[in-house]
Amino acid sequence: MAKSRTKTTFLCESCGNESPKWEGRCPSCGQWNSLVEHRVDRPGSRDGRRAPPESAPAQELSALSSDELPRLQTSSAEVNRVLGGGVVPGSLCLIAGDPGIGKSTLMLRIAADVAKGGGRVLYVSGEESSAQVKLRAERLEIAGDGLMLLHTTSLDAVMAELERDGPALCVVDSIQTVYDESLSSAAGSVGQIRECARVLMGWAKAQGVPMVLTGHVTKGGDIAGPRVLEHMVDVVLYMEGDPISSWRLLRAVKNRFGSTNEVGVFEMGERGLADVADPSRTFLSERSEGAVGSVVVPTLEGSRPLLVEVQALTSPSMLPVPRRVASGIDLNRLLLVCAVLTRRAGVSLAGEDVIVNVTGGLRIDEPAADLGVALAIVSSARNAPVASDLAAIGEVGLSGEVRRVPQLGRRTAEVSRLGFRRCLVPAGDMPANDMSGSVDEVARTLREAINAAIPRQRRAQRV
Ligand code: TYD
Ligand code: MG
Repeated sequence: MAKSRTKTTFLCESCGNESPKWEGRCPSCGQWNSLVEHRVDRPGSRDGRRAPPESAPAQELSALSSDELPRLQTSSAEVNRVLGGGVVPGSLCLIAGDPGIGKSTLMLRIAADVAKGGGRVLYVSGEESSAQVKLRAERLEIAGDGLMLLHTTSLDAVMAELERDGPALCVVDSIQTVYDESLSSAAGSVGQIRECARVLMGWAKAQGVPMVLTGHVTKGGDIAGPRVLEHMVDVVLYMEGDPISSWRLLRAVKNRFGSTNEVGVFEMGERGLADVADPSRTFLSERSEGAVGSVVVPTLEGSRPLLVEVQALTSPSMLPVPRRVASGIDLNRLLLVCAVLTRRAGVSLAGEDVIVNVTGGLRIDEPAADLGVALAIVSSARNAPVASDLAAIGEVGLSGEVRRVPQLGRRTAEVSRLGFRRCLVPAGDMPANDMSGSVDEVARTLREAINAAIPRQRRAQRV
C-alpha cells in the first residue's frame, strides 16, 4: 500500500477488497455502495509523527497505576452524571441526535463552563457562522471569555488552530461538516467522517486534550451518520426527545470511562437546557388526580427510574375498522394489549377507537409499561378512574398473565419516594432486600390487576 502512487484508495466495507477508484458495486463481492475512501500516505501525515514509538515495551498490568486524571467538570450535574463524573482528558466524545434537538446548545454550555474554569476552549462551528453562535451565546447569557470560535469546515484549518492555541477542550460542531482536502469524497461521507475523526483523535490522545464532536442522526440510520464513528470514539451520547416537547434525554450508549446506564434529563427553555434534577416529580406535576384513563408507570431509563403518566382514551369509532393510535409507546405493544384485554380480561374494545399517549412527549420502549397501558385503557372504557395513590408495572403476556420486569426494586423505591402508597407488580418478582416493599401489591393476571386498580364499587356508569 505504501508504494501506491495515489493518495487514497477505496476499500470494500463488506469484503475488504481494495480498489483504486470508486465504483458503485464492489468488483470482488458484488455488494452495492460498499466502497469507502481511505488515505494511504500514513508516514509523515499530521498525526503519524505523534504515534507512540514502535519500541514502546509492553507493561505488566499489575505494575500499572490506575491514577485517574482530574476530569473537566461542567456546571450541569446531569451532563457530569452521564459522562460518569466529567470529561476525561484526552477522550473523544460523540454527541449524536436529530437536527434541532439541542446539541449545539449543550455544546456551547459545556464549552463555556470549561472556559469559565480557566481553560481555553476551541469551538469549531462548521454549520453556523460565528455571528449565529454569538447570538446563541447571548441567549444563554454566556459572555465567552476564553471561548475561541472558529468558523470553518476545513480539517487543516482546525488542526492549524489546535497547534497554535493548544486549548484545554475542543468542540467540533459537527463532524459531518468537517472535510479533509486530501480525500476526494464529499464532506459527510463515510470516508471523510472516519478520516477526520481519526486525525482529531490522534491529536487529542497525543496531547491529552478532550474533544467533543457532534453528529446528526439521519432518519433510517444513514450510513454516513455518526454510527460510523461509534467504534472509534470513547464516549457516545445520544440526545433524544420529541421536538414538540421541551424534554430532552441525554443517554450514554457507550462510555469507556463510566456506566452506559446513565441518563440525563433536561428541559429546553428560553435560556437553553436546564437540568431536571427530579424528573419523576416534574413529569407528574401536571397530572390531575382522579382523572379517568390515567395511570402512573415507573419506567426505567438506563438504571434511572422515572415515573411517567400514561393516558388512554377510548371512544366509539366512526370507521369500520376502529383505530389504534400510540404516541410514546410501540403500536404493536398497544395492539397486543388490546387483544389480550379483549380475549383474557373480557374488556370489549370492538367498535372503539383506542388512543394511548405518554405525557410530555416521552417515549417508553420497554414492555414493562404494558400493564399501565392496559389499566389506562380499561379506566377510559369504563369511565372510572384508577386509584390515585396507585402505580403499575408489568409486562402483559398473551395468556393474560402479568410478567416480570427488570430492576423492580429501583422502580418501587421511586414510586414510594414520590408518595404513592401502592404499586401493582408482577408475581414472583419480589426482591429479597426491597426496602420499599410496603408499596408492592402483586397482580398475577390482568384481571387481578384490573380488579385491584379499578374496584367494582368505584366504577361509574358510562356517560
Ligand atoms: P440546537 O442546539 O441548534 O440544535 P442542534 O445543534 O441539535 O441542531 O437547538 C435548536 C433548537 O433549540 C431550536 O429549535 C431552538 C431551540 N432553543 C431553545 O428553545 N432555547 C434556547 O435557549 C436555544 C439556544 C435553542
Ligand atoms: Mg447544531
